[in-house]
Amino acid sequence: MKIKELRSRPTICHGAGLTLMRPCCIPHPLFEAEDLCVEVCGTEILKSVSLQINEGCVTSIVGPSGSGKSTFLLVISGLLPLVMKAKVRGKLRYRGHSFDQNSDMLQIIRKEVGVIFQEPTPFPVSIYKNLELPLKEAGIRSKAERKDRIEFALRNVCLWQEVEDRLHRSALSLSGGQKQRLCLARALVLEPTTLLLDEPTGALDPLATEIIEDFIKKNEDRLTVVLVTHNLAQAKRLSNYVAIFRSGETSSLVESGEAAELFSRPTEAFTKRYLLSEAV
Ligand SMILES: Nc1ncnc2c1ncn2[C@@H]1O[C@H](COP(=O)(O)OP(=O)(O)O)[C@@H](O)[C@H]1O
Ligand SMILES: [Mg+2]
Repeated sequence: MKIKELRSRPTICHGAGLTLMRPCCIPHPLFEAEDLCVEVCGTEILKSVSLQINEGCVTSIVGPSGSGKSTFLLVISGLLPLVMKAKVRGKLRYRGHSFDQNSDMLQIIRKEVGVIFQEPTPFPVSIYKNLELPLKEAGIRSKAERKDRIEFALRNVCLWQEVEDRLHRSALSLSGGQKQRLCLARALVLEPTTLLLDEPTGALDPLATEIIEDFIKKNEDRLTVVLVTHNLAQAKRLSNYVAIFRSGETSSLVESGEAAELFSRPTEAFTKRYLLSEAV
């Protein structure tokens, strides 16, 4: 596989001349799942999901608990084998290149794609070290560069002003919302092109939620975001695309499409019921 070639591909589409087109105007697949199935101990926990995640767009994945939303994120990020012993069938592509849960492609995906979970998990070290450790691990030798990237990431998640005078205090002393923003900043210092956010505001109060939503809106031109959320109003506010998952004997994708279209004119009976029950 030509890793260099893959890394050098542009992350956003360029239109005619110098105009930068919003990639979601011209859907350009970043991740593609085709007939994706996940089986654990003989039980299928995700059935036949075919879904495209378009570059430079916000795609929300919504659906009831147990409908396979987190499993889908784990599979496309290649983290599934770290979490459970599962068989994965079907096709997965990243930037047009096929991959599986053991492929070399995962090195690239891990460099380019940051994953954030509902429960923030800062390392039990200082705020600064939480951000410096991944940079050292990534081989950023210059202390000045590390410092710049750390400040930039903390500013991007609106945490800088709150912590600049206590960067060397334990990250565990932060509030829940601050911890989540620190985890976002920890992903951002590595300059990902994509963020997979698994219910990032599920455990946060409305104010802390608003800050994360503002972060997504502010960065929508430079990041591809996949947002798993239970909050349909949030999905409606933020998404270009939406995918509805359902639970049952086996979790599966019900339908997906442009958010404005799907929220106003869902085609499947399940989606109509789900949207009504959640009163978007
Ligand atoms: N580690 C695991 N081992 C076995 N089954 C699991 C595991 N994690 C999740 N599942 C099952 O997979 C299905 C989808 O779960 P999940 O992806 O967590 O759903 P969601 O994120 O939509 O709540 C559920 O039926 C759940 O019980
Ligand atoms: Mg989940």
